[in-house]
Amino acid sequence: MKFESLRISGLRCLDGVSLTPSAGINVFVGPNGAGKTSVLEAAYLLSHGRSFRAGSRDVLLKRGASALSVFAEVRHADGSLRRLGLGREGSRWQARVDGDAAASLGALVQECAVVCFEPGSHDLIAGASDERRRYLDWGLFHVEHAFVSQWRRYQRALKQRNTLLRAGGSPDPAWLAPWEAELALAGESITAFRRRYLERLLTHIQGFMVNVLPELGGFNIKYRPGWDETADLASTLAERRQRDLARGHTTVGPHRADFSVAFEHAPLREHLSRGQEKLCALACLLGQASLHAEIRGEWPVVCLDDLASELDRTHQEWVVAQLLGRDAQVFVTGTEIPSALTEQPVTLFHVEQGAVTALL
Ligand SMILES: Nc1ncnc2c1ncn2[C@@H]1O[C@H](COP(=O)(O)OP(=O)(O)OP(=O)(O)O)[C@@H](O)[C@H]1O
Ligand SMILES: [Mg+2]
Repeated sequence: MKFESLRISGLRCLDGVSLTPSAGINVFVGPNGAGKTSVLEAAYLLSHGRSFRAGSRDVLLKRGASALSVFAEVRHADGSLRRLGLGREGSRWQARVDGDAAASLGALVQECAVVCFEPGSHDLIAGASDERRRYLDWGLFHVEHAFVSQWRRYQRALKQRNTLLRAGGSPDPAWLAPWEAELALAGESITAFRRRYLERLLTHIQGFMVNVLPELGGFNIKYRPGWDETADLASTLAERRQRDLARGHTTVGPHRADFSVAFEHAPLREHLSRGQEKLCALACLLGQASLHAEIRGEWPVVCLDDLASELDRTHQEWVVAQLLGRDAQVFVTGTEIPSALTEQPVTLFHVEQGAVTALL
């Protein structure tokens, strides 16, 4: 998919910004603090319902402003055009698809696919497990409709069981049992979806990894479902009741799942340098985009924040060549045009104090 237009208001330092990116590589240049990363955040917000930077979605609201909105016209490979929007007025967030209020944020997010490689991307490898679950679930959300209903079912049951656990005392097992049955059913289903997805994803990631980190040898991913699989989830939940009561929340299940990465010559992630973590994350993001393209028939928009300071010249050139060869729309930021792009046909935008201007 490709953005044909993007309008941003009340997002950090951006207000009244309107841009028409090209279908190829778009470069946003400007000094530090100008608003370049914020442009990428706006695009990402439509596709994830949140920012890739730390903090709640609410910190995006421009200081002193009462409303935030991002609108986009998005062209899909089949020629169809969608009008997407997400805004916050007062304390309410509202998603829009083709002018109508969307039933949920998920309904918007499923219409828009943006992947972003940015200075915090190494967290996918070295950060907390929720980064990796979000990565998997975002991919599944966009390619597997049946996953969405199971995921919602699971979240609802988890909330109910946790409320009962937190209420204190010794809740009657008869109250917990129905939610545990629901958690087990949806949880086993989510696990199966994630495993199948990872299996397909691995092939795509490996295809990129042999180029970005050839010196580390073969690459593999190991999924841990969030409970000890010597027993099924239903009996594990029942067996954990007392401990969960003491902790006040559910300690087993897919909401505790994780995966680890391993290379033939770097079996532990602690063996990787910071730069290698970044390259590993880059291959994972490109792999996800490539699997998305295989299933949906179109590449997501790829954002590369601060490309020149994140990757050495060889890897910058490599990633640009990959994306050019796949007809992906790309948003790149930098204080200057990255050296790998000086010879490429790019659409250039200048960003200064929150104003975005197209340069001819
Ligand atoms: N909620 C907010 N309201 C108003 N301004 C904000 C808010 N949050 C951040 N800013 C400001 O918005 C500006 C844009 O930040 P952004 O990270 O997009 O800049 P950048 O061009 O990517 O800079 P760098 O080159 O340093 O990465 C910064 O000056 C920042 O202080
Ligand atoms: Mg920035």
